Amino acid sequence: MASPKITVIGLGYLGATHAAAMAELGFEVLGLDVVPEKIRKLEQGTAPMYEPGLEELLRMHVPGVEGSTGRLRFTESWEEIGEFGDVHFVCVNTPQKHGEYACDMSYVERAMDSLAPHLTRPALVVGKSTVPVGSADRIADRIAALAPAGEDAELAWNPEFLREGFAVQDTLHPDRIVVGVRGPRGEETLREVYAQPIAEGSPFLVTDFPTSELVKTSANSFLATKISFINAMAEVCEAAGGDVVRLAEAIGHDDRIGKKFLRAGIGFGGGCLPKDIRAFMARAGELGASEALTFLREVDSINMRRRSQMVELTRDAVGGTLLGKRIAVLGATFKPDSDDVRDSPALNVAGQLHLQGAQVTVYDPKGMDNARAIFPTLGYADTALEAVRAADVVLHLTEWNEFKELDPGELGDATATRHILDGRNTLDPALWRKAGWTFRALGRPTA
Ligand code: UGA
Repeated sequence: MASPKITVIGLGYLGATHAAAMAELGFEVLGLDVVPEKIRKLEQGTAPMYEPGLEELLRMHVPGVEGSTGRLRFTESWEEIGEFGDVHFVCVNTPQKHGEYACDMSYVERAMDSLAPHLTRPALVVGKSTVPVGSADRIADRIAALAPAGEDAELAWNPEFLREGFAVQDTLHPDRIVVGVRGPRGEETLREVYAQPIAEGSPFLVTDFPTSELVKTSANSFLATKISFINAMAEVCEAAGGDVVRLAEAIGHDDRIGKKFLRAGIGFGGGCLPKDIRAFMARAGELGASEALTFLREVDSINMRRRSQMVELTRDAVGGTLLGKRIAVLGATFKPDSDDVRDSPALNVAGQLHLQGAQVTVYDPKGMDNARAIFPTLGYADTALEAVRAADVVLHLTEWNEFKELDPGELGDATATRHILDGRNTLDPALWRKAGWTFRALGRPTA
């Protein structure tokens, strides 16, 4: 049997990477997005966002680039998508609803409603977006009702666990593949699509719809809880004079705890963890199970408190008032190796300082355009050295490698005071102190 033809609907961080990875695995792929500008960029082999390795992968497969396979094409036409595809991956985003905890399902609903009327022959629709538990059941019924193919248009739910910054690697070599199904076609088809990662040893787990949806939200909730746990320990360390970095290292040696996701600092952000734990609480409430997740409220508040604590530490560092103080902020994205500033703790702290009267200058290796777009009133500099010029205090808020490699001596000559606050606990205090800096970090002793 010929390989299934693949479509990918929604070409953001998840969809653009998924489409390129499917082409890399040898499939013919057609991608659709409702933003024409994104399609134009992708057609030229340009990634719509910064993601290491993605542009190289796109250029290996989009037609028109010398030596490419030509397997990865794009369209704005739902009709073409319906005609072309045997397997349709839906990768649209599910952001937090404005002013509410619940997630906004309108992009998923619109995508499914646009696709279904074009499913005229047997096809598998695969949901990859993060959705509240119970959504897949509802969507499967709706597709069957709207598709001319009726029950032959099946749904599977296949949550995605990729991390930004490692999206290509995580998509091509996933640490597990989870597939929620109702009928037989889902498992069979997705085993064929993911044959290569399965052959490489990725576990393939088949579940019912609700379990597959819950695997995703519970995994992100666990990760968020781990980060807030270590940040709670940082608060206690601050009160007791302990060192949270040494503490994390010591508890992490226990395999049952593990070393990963125990980096204390200004907390988690991005388009996933914060909104996912909130949507999970909202959904549990609807299901009458809110008590089971009250701890996530605490996870969220510990996380938000870290941002305020960073603002307080900065105020202390500049003598009690922020008014008119010059503050250099290194980092704007929610994590390194990404240009994503959605719910970024770094940008949030920079914004709070600015609103309290400080003169803030931000530098980030990749996130400047996105930061400027949502916070145009902050100052921006083209280099770290330029950002710290005459600063009263320097804040390290996103742990880019570039910042680890900065020369504290050279930087110190440019600042007014040689005062740095490490909000990510990845700089070496000894190195900075040796160069004459006053070095402070969240959850660590002052000297
Ligand atoms: C997260 C999950 O890790 C992915 O598995 C999941 O697929 C993805 O959400 C999603 O739902 O799409 P991502 O948002 O890319 O991935 O970022 P993470 O690497 O999880 O980091 C999230 C935040 O936690 C960042 O702001 C990071 O700086 C912070 N973090 C992470 C810490 O503060 N401490 C740590 O020890 C680790």
